[in-house]
Amino acid sequence: MKTFPELVQTLRETRNLPDPELKALLEHQGPDEVLFQAADETRREIYGDEVYIRGLIEFTNYCRNNCYYCGIRRDNKNAERYRLSQEEILDCCEEGYALGFRTFVLQGGEDPYYTDARICAIVTEIRRRFPDCAITLSIGEKTRESYQAFFDAGANRYLLRHETANDPHYRSLHPDGMQLSNRKRCLYDLKEIGYQVGSGFMVGSPGQTTECIIQDLRFLQDLQPDMIGIGPYITHPDTPFAACPSGSVDLTLRLVAVLRLMFPYALLPATTALGTLHPLGRELGLKAGANVVMPNLSPVSVRKLYELYENKICTGEEAAQCRGCLERRVDSAGYQIVTAIGNVKRESAGERG
Ligand code: SAM
Ligand code: FES
Repeated sequence: MKTFPELVQTLRETRNLPDPELKALLEHQGPDEVLFQAADETRREIYGDEVYIRGLIEFTNYCRNNCYYCGIRRDNKNAERYRLSQEEILDCCEEGYALGFRTFVLQGGEDPYYTDARICAIVTEIRRRFPDCAITLSIGEKTRESYQAFFDAGANRYLLRHETANDPHYRSLHPDGMQLSNRKRCLYDLKEIGYQVGSGFMVGSPGQTTECIIQDLRFLQDLQPDMIGIGPYITHPDTPFAACPSGSVDLTLRLVAVLRLMFPYALLPATTALGTLHPLGRELGLKAGANVVMPNLSPVSVRKLYELYENKICTGEEAAQCRGCLERRVDSAGYQIVTAIGNVKRESAGERG
């Protein structure tokens, strides 16, 4: 078996490892510096020290789904529900644009109130008012026709984590009615339509094994997404998984670095979940190869209500200054926030709108 530095070197050179070597890398006990350094060098070769910012607008916490891990699941009767109006969403964009955001991410539960017509109207108006911005949707599983309609209205990116590529594991995280096959179908439809697509998974979700993670990496190799979002699973007390411990920061960081080496061109966020479990989680994420941060642009009054997990950061009164706070954090980690649309830099595809 190769040593840890040899595994890192091979992964860096070939962007791949056989399953047993990936397992050894993921389960390695000990300092990860060699891995982080290789990931950082790879990221700097392509993206320099640039960090892209995405303005996150969490516009509804109603959801028809009942994912066992999620704090805004349908059956959580303790969740206080809210929806933002089209005007409120546009106000968030307005404020974000003035702060230098050129990507707006509209994320929410699967809320039937937002029919395709309503989503299209919102997207159309954002596109009209902010023609130089990317519009990202993250609103779950829809039909291909719906995805096409949103795309035609002006949306150009879509985030939909596959959550786990292992079928039994997927079954244990979701009630009957949700299917891994449909999640995958959505992701391939989105790609075919022409979206820049983001997928990903939680690290340390209940029942996850190293084999599950390897399957996640294999699925991502097949999908070849433009963005890959991973963050630790974090407990929420009002879910069926209330007694399950949160995921590990160390394993999440190691996986960020592995993803950077396997997908050098990917846009990888240093996630809020990482920042929630460790005071410097996002800075560490950047140093491990991440190159995106997603500050919250939602009105401060609703931020606490979009509670996917306990102790979520950036939800208090100080949250209005997310942009400035993150700028300092990114700076302290040795990178710089840039006001750019921040498209994926692929070898062959070049920049896409
Ligand atoms: N409804 C959309 C969807 O399903 O893609 C977007 C909203 S959903 C809340 C966004 C992501 O939050 C999920 O893909 C999941 O990975 C993450 N998430 C949910 N509950 C979480 C938890 N307890 N800990 C960490 N991440 C969580
Ligand atoms: Fe729908 Fe979490 S269960 S967003």
